[in-house]
Amino acid sequence: MKVSFNKPCHTGLEESYVIQAIKNNKLSGDGPFNKKCAEFLTSYFGSDTKAVYITPSCTAASEMASIILNMEKGDEVIMPSFTFTSTANAVAVYGGVPVFIDVRPDTMNIDENLIEQAISKKTKAIVPVHYAGVGCEMDKILYIAKKYGLAVIEDNAQGLFAYYKNKPLGSFGDMSAVSFHETKNVIAGEGGALVINSDNIKERAEIIREKGTDRSKFFRGEVDKYSWIDKGSSYLLGELGAAYLLAQLEKGTEITNNRLASWHFYYDALEDLEKKGFLRRPVVPSACTHNGHIFYILLDCLKTRESLREHLILREISAVSHYVPLHSSKAGLSFGRTASKMDVTDAHSEMLLRLPMYYGLGDDEKNRVVDGINSFFI
Ligand SMILES: Cc1ncc(COP(=O)(O)O)c(C=O)c1O
Repeated sequence: MKVSFNKPCHTGLEESYVIQAIKNNKLSGDGPFNKKCAEFLTSYFGSDTKAVYITPSCTAASEMASIILNMEKGDEVIMPSFTFTSTANAVAVYGGVPVFIDVRPDTMNIDENLIEQAISKKTKAIVPVHYAGVGCEMDKILYIAKKYGLAVIEDNAQGLFAYYKNKPLGSFGDMSAVSFHETKNVIAGEGGALVINSDNIKERAEIIREKGTDRSKFFRGEVDKYSWIDKGSSYLLGELGAAYLLAQLEKGTEITNNRLASWHFYYDALEDLEKKGFLRRPVVPSACTHNGHIFYILLDCLKTRESLREHLILREISAVSHYVPLHSSKAGLSFGRTASKMDVTDAHSEMLLRLPMYYGLGDDEKNRVVDGINSFFI
């Protein structure tokens, strides 16, 4: 049987919540399940978090962040090139310029030592992306942001239930964006959240999310009619998705522990191959507690990575590459600019191979993956 790369997470609690959502006769956004998800996350992120808005995706949450920042033509946002298109698109759709810098060779996270030289008069924000749920070097990033008066928007698509210095990823920046896409640890099919860590943007976020209206205030009885107040769009998640999501959030620790067990299985099983110089395993700095989102290996070059990937396909094992660099992509070249050498991004994106990883990944499957890799090298 095939070893899939991903299987959407399903814990068993979801069915009853989704049925409850149907029975509630309220399927649009901000019903009881949305509220419970937002409450869960507000309490999870801790006292620095002022509000959490459940959104249809992390992409939508990132776009909301751009509207909140009043992103305009020519505004620059510093980000890694090794990331998903949404990180850059959220800036480009408002005329902003993604300014790409290289990543650290150990974590594949934005290289904090390259940020300062990428800052210009037009720089508005820094977007650290917590790759694989391993935290970026937030102390230094926040220090630079403060020094230059820049906003920090964490792209925390992959980092729920992961920590930097024991504080949740997503609670450091002015805002952060989470993904609940079915490839993530905790899912809603499609879904996301915008986490607001600053009191003065909370109210504006609520309006932008409701098509630029004060409808949320109206529903709370704070105004007698609602009207068009600001720019905005439809950034609400329906109740069916939120019901599935609440079940997942409540099982978040179990889901994370299950993935971490698989992650550590791979980590231990591949130690010998690393010692022999065939591959490199992920590096997790001591300040970071990760969430087992991704297990990747780094091979010595593209040719080895592709031969291994094909070798695994022959054994019905699906392992995949990750992130084609944005700085040299068609859209990256036309909408962005590059502000550092890209040696690590260029090399590692050709060397990286992600192994099957999902909630409930069985011992048989894991052993087949490890045997498959061993049989390629030895
Ligand atoms: C780093 C990063 N940012 C943003 C996204 C977009 O997430 P969504 O599909 O929820 O919009 C992804 C999706 O994989 C991602 O990896």
